[in-house]
Amino acid sequence: MIMGNHSFQLLTIFTFMWFSFVVTNEHSRDVVQCIDSERQALLEFKEGFQIPSGHLSSWVTEEDCCKWRGVKCNNVTGHVLALDLHSSDSSELLQGNLTRLQSLDLSRNNFALRVNNLDWLSRLPTLQVLDLGVTMTFLPIPNWLFDISHTLMYLNLTRCQLQGSISNAFVNFTSLVVLDFSYNYLSGSIPYNFGNMTSLSVLDISFNYLQGPIPTGLGLIQQLQQHHFKQSPLCELRLSYNKLSGPLETILPQLSQLVVLEVAANRLEGLISEAQLQNFSSLRVLDLSDNSMILNFSSNWTPAFQLETIGLSSCKMGSQFPQWLQSQKNIQRLDLSHADVSGTVPSWFWNLSPSMEFLDLSDNRLSGELPDLSSRTSMLLLI
Ligand SMILES: *[C@@H]1O[C@H](CO)[C@@H](O)[C@H](O)[C@H]1NC(C)=O
Ligand SMILES: *[C@@H]1O[C@H](CO)[C@@H](O)[C@H](O)[C@H]1NC(C)=O
Ligand SMILES: *[C@@H]1O[C@H](CO)[C@@H](O)[C@H](O)[C@H]1NC(C)=O
Ligand SMILES: *[C@@H]1O[C@H](CO)[C@@H](O)[C@H](O)[C@H]1NC(C)=O
Ligand SMILES: *[C@@H]1O[C@H](CO)[C@@H](O)[C@H](O)[C@H]1NC(C)=O
Ligand SMILES: *[C@@H]1O[C@H](CO)[C@@H](O)[C@H](O)[C@H]1NC(C)=O
Ligand SMILES: *[C@@H]1O[C@H](CO)[C@@H](O)[C@H](O)[C@H]1NC(C)=O
Repeated sequence: MIMGNHSFQLLTIFTFMWFSFVVTNEHSRDVVQCIDSERQALLEFKEGFQIPSGHLSSWVTEEDCCKWRGVKCNNVTGHVLALDLHSSDSSELLQGNLTRLQSLDLSRNNFALRVNNLDWLSRLPTLQVLDLGVTMTFLPIPNWLFDISHTLMYLNLTRCQLQGSISNAFVNFTSLVVLDFSYNYLSGSIPYNFGNMTSLSVLDISFNYLQGPIPTGLGLIQQLQQHHFKQSPLCELRLSYNKLSGPLETILPQLSQLVVLEVAANRLEGLISEAQLQNFSSLRVLDLSDNSMILNFSSNWTPAFQLETIGLSSCKMGSQFPQWLQSQKNIQRLDLSHADVSGTVPSWFWNLSPSMEFLDLSDNRLSGELPDLSSRTSMLLLI
């Protein structure tokens, strides 16, 4: 299992979009001041936190709430657009009334926030970015989310201790571009209508307890988008570390524009041949490790992709050393452990990609002489 840490173009574009709508204009602050009712709402909001002395001190000393730490206002209307309190210290939220808020980022706070009531978020009709990752503790997926489903573009509830199943109501999240529910305790199946979130570009629900098949609906995201000439097809699909089962190859034909496909450590099965991967020309990260997958690639196959991360641990690879790896010039991480490969490691293989950082060939029946790799000091090699 390999965890990639890549930032891809689409995410960059998205981040830029996010940045561009939270951005404020420094110069006009002298002219435009915050709106009194929103200032009041922010003060109420702050009262819900137990804030260590010093943090948010500007919230006391400054009259104009647009100059407060973490507050971003529209430079023309003075409406509060974004609240960015990430990495600040805080411990309990109550309520607020910020009807024009577009972005709320409370992620990566050092203290865990205990939330009694975030229902007021449902009264934020323009909220587009909601990043509560790592800080909040919810049990089920909170209901107020569904009230803002039509505007939300970015939703990050990683490590929020979410439990229970994922609601079918996600069908209404038609603007959502990024959905991150990773590292929670979600169970049940992936809703069949996830594919109706037609703007989705990044889906990360890895490290949960989801079971059942990967719905073919996920592939619909892409088909609908191609149909409407949308800019961003589903490009990152991270489903690793769940209990998903069934054959993977049935959804592959619909996912060929993926950049990241991570399904490691599930109970998927099936036979994957080169024909099924022939259209995956954008793929950079492929992690199929620790399932019950059989790979049948011919020795003269030249894939359309150039992978950076390859996880094929525990896949049945056929006894030959995989010749197609010779075409992959940008490999950074390669896990071929426990993959039932035998024979001699070909000499071309040791002419490794200069960016190789991690290589695991352990638990196979490989032979041959290890070349001098002493110059590759930054590489972790497991054999
Ligand atoms: C206000 O900000 C926008 C970008 O958000 C910028 O395009 C515009 O020029 C600014 N207006 C003024 C009056 O500074
Ligand atoms: C929020 O503000 C609106 C008017 O802007 C007001 O009608 C409403 O009662 C307020 N809600 C709360 C919870 O303060
Ligand atoms: C979600 O938030 C976590 C923690 O801040 C971050 O590491 C992760 O990259 C975010 N996920 C996405 C898809 O942006
Ligand atoms: C989706 O939104 C529509 C209209 O806003 C609503 O009638 C419907 O009940 C919602 N569907 C779900 C599953 O929540
Ligand atoms: C999801 O979209 C399909 C069309 O792609 C539509 O037939 C179906 O009714 C939608 N599902 C829901 C729950 O709206
Ligand atoms: C690959 O793309 C071509 C052209 O779009 C299409 O005809 C073919 O069916 C695709 N192959 C697979 C396995 O999806
Ligand atoms: C693997 O592919 C070859 C030719 O593409 C085929 O002859 C063989 O039967 C396949 N093996 C399995 C196990 O499907």
